[in-house]
Amino acid sequence: MSKTKISATIDRILTIELVRVTERAAVAAARMRGRGDERAADLAAIDAMERELNHLPIDGTIVIGEGTEDAVDHLYLGEKVGTLNGPEVDVAAVALEGATLCAKNLPNALTVVAMATGGSFLNVPDVYMEKIAVGRGYPDGLIDLDATPGENLLALAAAKGVSVEELSVCILDRPRHARLIEEVREAGAAIRLIGDGDVSGVFHTTNPERSGVDIYMGTGGASEGVLAAAALRCIGGQMQGRLVPRNKEERDRIKAVGLKDVERKYGIEDMVPDDVYFAATGITDGNLVRGVHFRDDEIRTHSVVMRSSTGTVRWVDACHQRLEKFHLDR
Ligand code: FBP
Repeated sequence: MSKTKISATIDRILTIELVRVTERAAVAAARMRGRGDERAADLAAIDAMERELNHLPIDGTIVIGEGTEDAVDHLYLGEKVGTLNGPEVDVAAVALEGATLCAKNLPNALTVVAMATGGSFLNVPDVYMEKIAVGRGYPDGLIDLDATPGENLLALAAAKGVSVEELSVCILDRPRHARLIEEVREAGAAIRLIGDGDVSGVFHTTNPERSGVDIYMGTGGASEGVLAAAALRCIGGQMQGRLVPRNKEERDRIKAVGLKDVERKYGIEDMVPDDVYFAATGITDGNLVRGVHFRDDEIRTHSVVMRSSTGTVRWVDACHQRLEKFHLDR
């Protein structure tokens, strides 16, 4: 069955409405910042995000969420969200990206949601994905997962008109990246090691001037890879991803979702084939978006919302009246 087309008006409205979803989830998670309880922060964000998604005038289906229906109660794969009286859209939601960052009150915890029509998002199972990403303004095909880190860095440096020493690479701080880190250092680039949150890591490449990150490299969650690709599709960046099964069970899981060629490299268009909306709100202060700030009489949130059809990027700095029931159901 073909999906209901989004009218131009609804399209514009949804762009702004989407940011309400991430704002609410971010405020809920921010109340749990620094409390050392990842699960509680996660649950608060999930609950708020689900509730807010259900106010949207969409017939939505969760395609990237918290897990399968038999494993989780909220934001599960296949869950219907929205008023169910609107365009059919697929929803990719990570209510709390960087649960550990939030629990420890460290920078760059985000809440992220993307929404797409038509071809939707690449259906990936819960496995790792190897990723490489840069922002916009570079010649097509600049980066390649099959090239060495040194080759990718040389190509990027030439395209930017700088030396490799002036580049900064964002990499998740994990033992599995020891070799990658060594190769990047041998090539001469600086590394921004992050403890968690590779959607945020990739997102940083969209604005190197503000984030100080030119390129993202390394392996993280596959769902996070698809969400990050949605952000890059909106701004015209470049990214490749390749699933990295660690054993036969994970290979079988990849095949079970219909991805026959396990070794395949995916570009942005493969991961996000159609128009997409992307919104993210900071939970803790970060390089691109500030976190939630609670004041006596207001709550301040900082978000970015974008849509690929126009490439518009809006930075939304919102002051919410500190009503008693801000975090409760309306
Ligand atoms: P959570 O918010 O679910 O903790 O995920 C954080 C994260 O850092 C992701 O951004 C990243 O893709 C993934 O975990 C990396 O996985 P691992 O911690 O297993 O290396």
